[in-house]
Amino acid sequence: MTSVGVVGLGVIGRAVCRALDTGLDGCALVGATARDQGRGEAFLKSLATRPPYLTLDDLIACSDLLVEASTQAHLAEWAPKALAAGKDLMILSCGALLAHQEWVALARERGARILVPSGAIGGLDAVKAARVGRVNSVTMETRKPPAGLAGAPGVVARGTDLAALTEPTLIFEGPATEAVPAFPANVNVLAALSLAGIGPARTTIRLYAVPGLTRNTHRIIVEGDAGRVSVEIENVPSENPRTGRLSYLSAIAMLRDLHATLRVGT
Ligand SMILES: NC(=O)c1ccc[n+]([C@@H]2O[C@H](COP(=O)([O-])OP(=O)(O)OC[C@H]3O[C@@H](n4cnc5c(N)ncnc54)[C@H](O)[C@@H]3O)[C@@H](O)[C@H]2O)c1
Repeated sequence: MTSVGVVGLGVIGRAVCRALDTGLDGCALVGATARDQGRGEAFLKSLATRPPYLTLDDLIACSDLLVEASTQAHLAEWAPKALAAGKDLMILSCGALLAHQEWVALARERGARILVPSGAIGGLDAVKAARVGRVNSVTMETRKPPAGLAGAPGVVARGTDLAALTEPTLIFEGPATEAVPAFPANVNVLAALSLAGIGPARTTIRLYAVPGLTRNTHRIIVEGDAGRVSVEIENVPSENPRTGRLSYLSAIAMLRDLHATLRVGT
């Protein structure tokens, strides 16, 4: 049985807790933590198994696997501690991995694993397979409602008035190495795509703000010796406009696969 601790009780963390509470083979929810203890405790009391709200240190101590669903900045505060203790990490704020490749070496040294679910995108299976051969380019085109980009450093630095946009507008074009720090809460998917494929320096994005758009859409295009892979995803937003429902479903699917006898897809 894998003891699972959940860090962050927002849209993703709560959905993962509910799924574990309902029952995922081979996994048990041992507790959770978040920024607001009162709200966190109230949520956890609403679950059938009534898992405890724990301090981060206690949660790390009693978990085999920590599911991170907070922020990149918060993850950076505790990931080294959890990995040093040999604990496995499932990371949703996976953009943090681009600036912390040393976590992989630390995990290897301590016998821990770092798992990154596909999150809000699909097609990583094909990207990984294509990558075994030669891949020439990986490009992503992302369209989001303007409100979904509000507050991003990449928007603030450019002084873009999102509310004034009346037509689809290219907000950013460039490699993942620049896009991920500029849009830390918006393009974790790009980080995952780059890690599955040819790395953040060679994986590029065109990011558009589209007034009136109701779904976050991602189009991934991979060109290589195996051919051309083109994947398009239209995500229904959750109550957090930046987070599509597929994001937490993907994390739950990965937990379901942890102990699966039949596992389909790479
Ligand atoms: N990989 C993907 O495809 C993908 C998709 C969507 C979201 N995400 C990322 O996953 C993360 C969670 O997303 P969400 O929609 O659930 O966010 P959310 O804003 O709904 O919830 C975040 C939670 O983290 C907690 N938190 C934040 N800072 C904290 C701190 N310093 N200490 C303790 N708790 C803290 C908050 O209290 C909240 O409970 C975000 O980083 C988001 O960018 C990734």
